[in-house]
Amino acid sequence: MTRLRRIYLESIGLDYDPRPPGSAGGSRPLTKEEGLKELREELGDCQRCPLARGRRNLVFGGGNPDAELVFVGEAPGRDEDISGVPFVGRAGELLNKIIAAMGLSREKVYICNVIKCRPPGNRDPLPSEIEICKPFLERQLGIMGPRVICALGSFAARTLLETEERISLLRGKIWEYQGIPLIATYHPSYLLRNPQAKRDAWADIQKVMEILGLPNAREKGRPTPGQ
Ligand code: URA
Repeated sequence: MTRLRRIYLESIGLDYDPRPPGSAGGSRPLTKEEGLKELREELGDCQRCPLARGRRNLVFGGGNPDAELVFVGEAPGRDEDISGVPFVGRAGELLNKIIAAMGLSREKVYICNVIKCRPPGNRDPLPSEIEICKPFLERQLGIMGPRVICALGSFAARTLLETEERISLLRGKIWEYQGIPLIATYHPSYLLRNPQAKRDAWADIQKVMEILGLPNAREKGRPTPGQ
């Protein structure tokens, strides 16, 4: 309905107002939760790329729409495709540990992916799939406007930073995405295969914590993910 309204208003040369009908007088802007809900509705039963044919669920993202920290991963895997929830498989378990070591919980952060549907056999997303799905990630981030973004792995980092650089060169620094500090680190799946990289990943996460003003885990006596 919203989409049709937009198309109609644009066709007669009027600006589209995304506020719910009846709220315009009070000029109440959409809450972040409402903005995300509307974006999810716009995606609908998305058929914009061939991944739609093989998916069970579109994995839009989850967590707190008002989060100060947004994690961006690559694409749903098998468990996420089944559940419709991002990062619930083995990589998700490790991400949960990282989040807990930061002194946070999944309810306090927001988690989403560059592409919303599972590539067959968990293959890498194709450039065409990223191109089609990226505007929705951009709008998700635009609606939330978090204080910091943590890009998990090369696909998220390269997509948001518009570079072909390797993750090993992108990590460890503070970048900027649309004025928001962005820190790239290794993807949890990579860390499961290469546990020796956890030390570097934890150093990256500590940069995120510094930006958020979160106390260091060791000061708090919490276990770090590498322990
Ligand atoms: N890997 C990702 O990049 N995203 C998920 O949601 C799960 C695994």
